[in-house]
Amino acid sequence: MWRPHLSLCGMRTIVYTGKGGTGKSALSCATALRAADLGYDVLVISSDPAHTLMDLLELKVGPEPTKIVNHLWALQLDPLREVREKYWVIQEYVAKVFKARGVDETIAYEVASLPNMTPFLSLLKLVDVAKEGGFEAVVLDTVPSGEALKNLYLPSLVSSLSRKLLKLAGGLMGAVKVVEPLLKVPAPSKEVVEADLSLLDELEALRGILTNPDVASLRLVANPDSFSIGNMRRTYMTASLYGINTDLAIINKVLPPEVKDPYFKEWRKAQERYLAEAEASFHPLPIRRVRLFSSELKGLEMLRRCAEEAFGGDDPLKVFHRGSPFTIERGGGWLELKISTPFLNKEGCEVERVGDELTLKVDTDVGEVRCFIPLPAAAYAMKLSRARLIGGVLHVRFEEEGLGGGR
Ligand SMILES: Nc1ncnc2c1ncn2[C@@H]1O[C@H](COP(=O)(O)OP(=O)(O)OP(=O)(O)O)[C@@H](O)[C@H]1O
Ligand SMILES: [Mg+2]
Repeated sequence: MWRPHLSLCGMRTIVYTGKGGTGKSALSCATALRAADLGYDVLVISSDPAHTLMDLLELKVGPEPTKIVNHLWALQLDPLREVREKYWVIQEYVAKVFKARGVDETIAYEVASLPNMTPFLSLLKLVDVAKEGGFEAVVLDTVPSGEALKNLYLPSLVSSLSRKLLKLAGGLMGAVKVVEPLLKVPAPSKEVVEADLSLLDELEALRGILTNPDVASLRLVANPDSFSIGNMRRTYMTASLYGINTDLAIINKVLPPEVKDPYFKEWRKAQERYLAEAEASFHPLPIRRVRLFSSELKGLEMLRRCAEEAFGGDDPLKVFHRGSPFTIERGGGWLELKISTPFLNKEGCEVERVGDELTLKVDTDVGEVRCFIPLPAAAYAMKLSRARLIGGVLHVRFEEEGLGGGR
């Protein structure tokens, strides 16, 4: 049987993400349950309202790992408790700074909380679970978009220099207190500096886990509609840029063939088109389909059926795919996006830029299919200057306005 690759942190980590309501929680639980049935010790973590896990797993789940069935545990993250226990010192200090600047106390605490705090906290929970050990795999259901992933790069932004300064500040607290009235801003206490440093350490550990493709995989969940597939593309791009391996996309709630009612004819046609577009856009990332069940997905038996649809005979903890479809080269005033597109041929392809996306029109057996490729933010202010197909790789070059053509 395939076993997760053991490295720095040997715990296989699977993170489900996708737009609201697409089926992240259902697929997280289905994945974890199938893995537990195969004999792995698995923990599923969610930060959704408690009843979601309760509905799916048919048991009340608390903020500590709760046993569901043999080999399967679930944990319901309580964001308030996490903040109180671990990050309160930092938040309180930041709030004090805002208050000193005349911001109302309640608003100061609101402003002081990190954006995307809940998904971010659940990502950080991975570090705790990894440190404590005891599980072979953890499935995280919580990240509603790729946004929280950006926080992983905080440690690089706060460079080692700032780290040294923070440490130095810790040593100089007494002196800083003396000038505090002059600064009109409260000086951070030793505890605040220490809490900042340990948060940086945790972020670094988290990045170590999530950017190791042998350990962590991001899985994208969408429904066969343009909005959720569009969101899936953007997350795929963001994750790729941050060095996080996406190993599978799951399109959930696909109308099954036995639905013959003419009422759903248009729905089926649209779904087929979106599925074809998704397959072209995400190639060679494997895409699995899960049917829309005849009733709401609830309870262990339905979760097992859902896992059967998604994984067939495969081990759900397998790394289904490795590799990034995008690479980016940058130079003075230009950027080149290289996109692996083995499905393209020169004759049948047209490249166009529409807003912050690149549209590739491709001729396929099901007619013309459009692939949308989100552009990296660095290309927003540039113009598309050239697109060439070289050995199955599309090279798309962007240049700042006013820069001459050619390299
Ligand atoms: N394939 C399916 N067939 C039928 N019902 C489904 C299917 N997948 C999910 N559901 C139902 O759709 C609803 C949303 O699913 P789920 O809670 O897993 O989505 P989510 O992405 O976690 O949502 P949120 O963003 O609110 O956390 C639930 O009621 C669930 O039972
Ligand atoms: Mg959910």
